[in-house]
Amino acid sequence: MLLLGIESSCDETAAAVLRDGREVLASVVNSQIAVHSPYGGVVPELASRQHLTNIEPVVAAALTQAGITLDEIDGLAVTQGPGLVGSLLVGLSFAKALSLAKGIPYVCVDHIVGHLLSIFLEEEQPAFPYIALVVSGGHSSICRVADYAAYELLGRTKDDAAGEAFDKVAKLLGLPYPGGPAISELARQGNRQAIDFPRAWLDGDSHDFSFSGVKTAVANYVRLKRQQGDELPVADICASFQEAVVEVLAEKTIAAAHSAKIRDVALAGGVGANPRLREYLQELGASRGIRVYLPSPAYCTDNAAMIALAGYHCFQEATRALDTDVYSRSHLGRPQPKTGKHSYGGPNSVDRHRPC
Ligand SMILES: Nc1ncnc2c1ncn2[C@@H]1O[C@H](COP(=O)(O)OP(=O)(O)OP(=O)(O)O)[C@@H](O)[C@H]1O
Ligand SMILES: [Mg+2]
Repeated sequence: MLLLGIESSCDETAAAVLRDGREVLASVVNSQIAVHSPYGGVVPELASRQHLTNIEPVVAAALTQAGITLDEIDGLAVTQGPGLVGSLLVGLSFAKALSLAKGIPYVCVDHIVGHLLSIFLEEEQPAFPYIALVVSGGHSSICRVADYAAYELLGRTKDDAAGEAFDKVAKLLGLPYPGGPAISELARQGNRQAIDFPRAWLDGDSHDFSFSGVKTAVANYVRLKRQQGDELPVADICASFQEAVVEVLAEKTIAAAHSAKIRDVALAGGVGANPRLREYLQELGASRGIRVYLPSPAYCTDNAAMIALAGYHCFQEATRALDTDVYSRSHLGRPQPKTGKHSYGGPNSVDRHRPC
């Protein structure tokens, strides 16, 4: 089965071709960093205009890279949300148009489910159930993943997402957007024990996160240094801030796996590209007998291969759902029927993947 994945939820226009849910034949990502960096963050109107310009050439490039034509594509998988509405509409409308024009069925995929399953693009894969730490620009969640379509949210951020905290701290240090890569690069030259920024462990064995406190602590530290006329130790601030975030993310994830008696942990989302987080999580996991699975950095940040992969499993489930039965009463407010979780019926199909 050849699937074309399309992703346009934020500031990357991406397309990928996936064979049989495993083999990435092409993955093209057009980043809009240069467009948004003068503003220090994503400007939604500019993002959707860029997607409009880029989507056709990006899809064409993916097909060329895969060495196939649109006529060989068996299905389309497109990001439905969450994200910027104007940006999402470009990808979804493009997929609908392809579907109608070429008669190719499509499924809609939740962006965070794409991140959650991105580890299955790698050779080394966790066994179900596994614990996933999803850390991105908009999310910081710990989930229990029971299978390709069953996710349980164990914890999430109460305020800023981890990536958001990296981006905000970078902005107040005058570093370029996006802040995560800039901070992790400077952190290499800094001392992670130089400044004792706070760690928000929250109540008892809570699996939730909070990053607004550490962000404010960095802001206060920077203000004080500037008031005193001292030079900012930027590399030390980056290393110490990064350590405060990474320590909480890794410790809480391994603790969640431990209390759920689960031995496999997978990392996902843009912050998952952070080298210190990857190192910390792996070392901590090894010391507690927990296997840690890391997607390659290119599959941590937004890409369409993960969308095609999640879409592949929607198609699989739709096929299995041929045993779907009718029901007479509304199931609203009660558990969904076990089968037929994904309604699917050709070009106008809509998937109901449950996000975290
Ligand atoms: N090396 C890194 N260290 C820390 N953070 C990083 C690194 N590389 C990227 N990031 C952060 O990852 C985030 C982008 O990740 P991603 O593309 O998954 O997020 P998003 O798609 O914008 O948000 P979401 O997936 O929640 O909708 C940004 O906040 C960026 O700063
Ligand atoms: Mg993302």
